[in-house]
Amino acid sequence: MKTLLRGRVLTFHADPADTADNHRFWEDGAILIEDGRIEAVGDHADLRHHDATEIDHRPNLILPGFIDPHIHFPQVQVIASWGEQLLDWLNTYTFPAELKFASPEHAAHMADRFLGLLLAHGTTTASTFCSVHPASAEALFAAADARGMAMVAGKVMMDRNAPDGLRDTAQQGYDDSRALIDRWHGRGRLRYAITPRFAITSTPEQLQAAGALAAEFPDLHIQTHLSENLAEIDFTRELYPEARDYLDIYDRHGLLGPRSLMGHAIHLSDREIARMAETGARAIHCPTSNLFLGSGLFDDHAMREASVVTGVATDVGGGTSYSMLATLSEAYKIAQLNGRRMHPLQAFHWATRGNAIALGMEDEIGAIEPGRHADLVVLDPRATPAMALRAEAARTLAEELFILQIMGDDRAVAQTYVAGKPMGVGDKLR
Ligand code: GUN
Ligand code: ZN
Repeated sequence: MKTLLRGRVLTFHADPADTADNHRFWEDGAILIEDGRIEAVGDHADLRHHDATEIDHRPNLILPGFIDPHIHFPQVQVIASWGEQLLDWLNTYTFPAELKFASPEHAAHMADRFLGLLLAHGTTTASTFCSVHPASAEALFAAADARGMAMVAGKVMMDRNAPDGLRDTAQQGYDDSRALIDRWHGRGRLRYAITPRFAITSTPEQLQAAGALAAEFPDLHIQTHLSENLAEIDFTRELYPEARDYLDIYDRHGLLGPRSLMGHAIHLSDREIARMAETGARAIHCPTSNLFLGSGLFDDHAMREASVVTGVATDVGGGTSYSMLATLSEAYKIAQLNGRRMHPLQAFHWATRGNAIALGMEDEIGAIEPGRHADLVVLDPRATPAMALRAEAARTLAEELFILQIMGDDRAVAQTYVAGKPMGVGDKLR
């Protein structure tokens, strides 16, 4: 049976920062879905004759589901932890919380809650850090698979500078990652990401093991952290004195390429930025986290000028919201502090097709086009009284989008679809 979603449909085919011809918008639009994939998109008048169950979302907007290319699933109870910057925040709050994910029961319960929260916020795909325990990745993959979600995830590899119970070894990290790859990578819509947490918590031997995995499985993502915080950078340079700079540590271990997702990437030298562009490694901006932890201001404009592909992500629990709308709001403000203006069309492109490109998954997700998976979010720009009042004076699509970007959160998400399936109120943990 086919489904026809009716609404105000918006999708991007190019970056608004690059070209005027970048999006399609159907004021009375429709999306025809069969077997979880988009069969057609266009004017409702042209698609209404299909034999399909129709769901009318007017006057709400229908966009591709949001993509969050950097988030930590074991930090669902770390979000909003007071008073520290990165290294103390990790030691005081994050590592103790991640220890609990040794328990498969705790991991399974939290995986369920985590995915419920993602979907309630309109996020249909994420690239997720699990804890060091394979059980945490098992739980997340199983829960994502049950929902039919396209999920990228990996257990963190960390063999030093972390408490007992939160360290593997170079060999164990390799073996556990490998077993998870064999079990989950390519199953349903799941993908494994090789996940050395960051240089501080990995010995050179472990980064070498991560590099060996990357060489054996070149289609896998690699996710880690890079140059987030000044104290972190100092400590990292002490641990790897032979490296030219922070990026060079990952480079020397074969961890840079177009499938490498480098979280934060704030305090980079010109050489590092040029090398990111040369290798194709992605810079993932985490605005709410960077403000919350006082880490610094990511310069998206400079990255784009240097031809570095960027993504934008929540980084919960350093980040302060699961909402990609709230994330785009803080990204807008960081751009302001950098003296740049981010157009709302550019922002919504970034959180959808832009992040799909960052993940190398643009053939599968991030746009409403025939053949793509029907991962969609339905947004209500009048979701709260304050938004509705502001929207009364909105005259253009860009204005409506900007209201969503600056004032929106999960209250503006009217519905989320994964592979054409509405994610029910049971998933909405409001
Ligand atoms: N660097 C290493 N681990 C983490 C983490 O969990 N969150 C953030 N924000 N940075 C990190
Ligand atoms: Zn992170």
